[in-house]
Amino acid sequence: MKAKPMVKTLAALLGVLGCGSVVAAGWNEAGGEKDAAMLLTPDRERGIAVYEVCSACHLLEGWGLQDGTFPQLAGQHRNVLIKQLADIRAKNRDNPTMYPFALDEQIMAVAGFHKGEIDPAQLVADVTAYIAKLPMNPENGKGPWNKLFPEFAEGKKLYDKNCVQCHGEKGEGHDEKFFPKVHGQHYAYMLRQFEWIRDGKRRNANPDMVEQIKNFTDKEMQMVINYVSRMPVPKEYLAPSKDYQNPDYD
Ligand code: HEC
Ligand code: HEC
Repeated sequence: MKAKPMVKTLAALLGVLGCGSVVAAGWNEAGGEKDAAMLLTPDRERGIAVYEVCSACHLLEGWGLQDGTFPQLAGQHRNVLIKQLADIRAKNRDNPTMYPFALDEQIMAVAGFHKGEIDPAQLVADVTAYIAKLPMNPENGKGPWNKLFPEFAEGKKLYDKNCVQCHGEKGEGHDEKFFPKVHGQHYAYMLRQFEWIRDGKRRNANPDMVEQIKNFTDKEMQMVINYVSRMPVPKEYLAPSKDYQNPDYD
């Protein structure tokens, strides 16, 4: 128990000395576009303008697709969105489908800017602030096992033992720590990410998570993600119905 404050002090000290994150270099290094975007004041109208290009895949509501091709972005923690977007833009997370739409030239063009007229980190700040406030999909893609199956209970057990310390009791994640919200996300998308993280294919993944899940079998992975996909999302984050349409693009 006593060790905790000391670790904190050490972390703060290292931060001051500019050594950056002590959590794990390479996963979440200090500096770069992520930190720049976090410090800038977002502008909602520019966020709406930039998001239009994203909506080609993530949809105007930010709900992605149940089949997992595109993740839901709506309601995700802002710092998580900033980190993931900055990692993708820096090509520290593979996403060839998205590159042509998320690199500088494209996001500046949609927002009406030419090179040199605006810091692209500002547009990252704008678009992520906008997305984080979008109401979430009330019908995310779910895994195959409802509560009546033993696989559901098994998944819960796995979650409580291996995931809760980071993704939270209710799958709510943690904004300041860059832990994604996982409730409400599509099963098929999460399955793909989980497998990539386990197998070292998602290069920007948190090394502690990699360590925690490295011995998961495919069946265990399916059971735990099934459970996550069925965690209820608190009502206040959900859109009123599955027919809801984003009013900002009327
Ligand atoms: C051409 C399709 C396409 C467009 C346009 C696109 N994306 Fe994506 N995006 C994807 C795909 C596919 C993934 C998931 C990649 C994977 O499976 O690893 C993704 C993943 C993401 C993620 C990571 C989500 C997570 O849960 O970790 C973020 C954040 C994101 N996109 C933001 C954006 C933003 C912001 C824009 C607009 C500037 C945008 N995307 C435009 C296809 C697209
Ligand atoms: C030590 C903390 C930690 C633990 C333990 C952990 N995770 Fe993660 N998880 C993370 C972080 C951080 C990310 C984002 C990775 C990144 O930065 O790219 C993530 C990403 C994910 C993603 C992809 C989310 C997305 O939007 O792309 C899923 C799904 C996931 N975790 C599920 C799990 C499950 C299920 C468990 C338990 C079996 C687990 N995680 C254990 C920290 C953790």
